[in-house]
Amino acid sequence: MNPPKHIAIIMDGNGRWASKRFLPRIQGHQKGVKAVRKVVKHCGKLGIETLTLFAFSSENKNRSNEEVSLLFKLFLSVLKQEVNKLNKHNVKLKIIGDLGLFPQEVQQTALDAQALLANNTGLTLVIAANYGGQWDIAQAAQQIAKRAANNEISADDINIDTFSQYLSLADQPKVDLLIRTSGELRISNFLLWEIAYSELYFTDTLWPDFNPAELDKAIESFNHRDRRFGERKDKAC
Ligand code: IPE
Ligand code: IPE
Ligand code: MG
Repeated sequence: MNPPKHIAIIMDGNGRWASKRFLPRIQGHQKGVKAVRKVVKHCGKLGIETLTLFAFSSENKNRSNEEVSLLFKLFLSVLKQEVNKLNKHNVKLKIIGDLGLFPQEVQQTALDAQALLANNTGLTLVIAANYGGQWDIAQAAQQIAKRAANNEISADDINIDTFSQYLSLADQPKVDLLIRTSGELRISNFLLWEIAYSELYFTDTLWPDFNPAELDKAIESFNHRDRRFGERKDKAC
């Protein structure tokens, strides 16, 4: 079994972590950032190629204005605070999602951070922000339709491989392992196309309590999976 090259995580449970302690939800998100730091560092050490984190879904904008604006502020301060440390650890950053929703300052800081880290060769950290799997498939279809209208691509050229090239994770290895914390057993419009053959791992641990040991447990579980991809090693019928 090969170790996972690409791990994706639905970091869920920040609000419940805070509620259990009678704290405002934002304190759960702040504590969640600490878990992100530890997990990113650990993935770097393990030699994982890509870590994709679901930070804000396209549906999360429908939460209260207060929570959304606090999340934007937190995203901005984390981007600013962490960029030098990420650089020191040779981490490359890629932000995926419909960033148009974010205040101009957040968009610019995100662009600057990605540019600063662009030549790093260690872990690629992908942050999915205002991201939805359905949005990603729709934006890929839109790009292809525009190219077809310009006669740059013909309908016959559109297949699984060519379509994949228009998705946000086109340049990353296939997602081997998808983790969701907090006990929910759903995808919540995270990666859809990319998880066709990913191994899924669900844990009741709330995201702020997730740590390197929990990640090791998920990888250990992955290492025991029999990934068949629809085939059989035993060719006899
Ligand atoms: C995940 O935690 C973080 C975001 C969605 C931004 P939640 O905020 O969804 O926490 P719960 O699910 O309410 O506990
Ligand atoms: C998914 O969690 C989004 C993120 C973790 C960023 P949600 O808390 O938004 O998902 P639902 O509402 O429980 O499906
Ligand atoms: Mg949630």
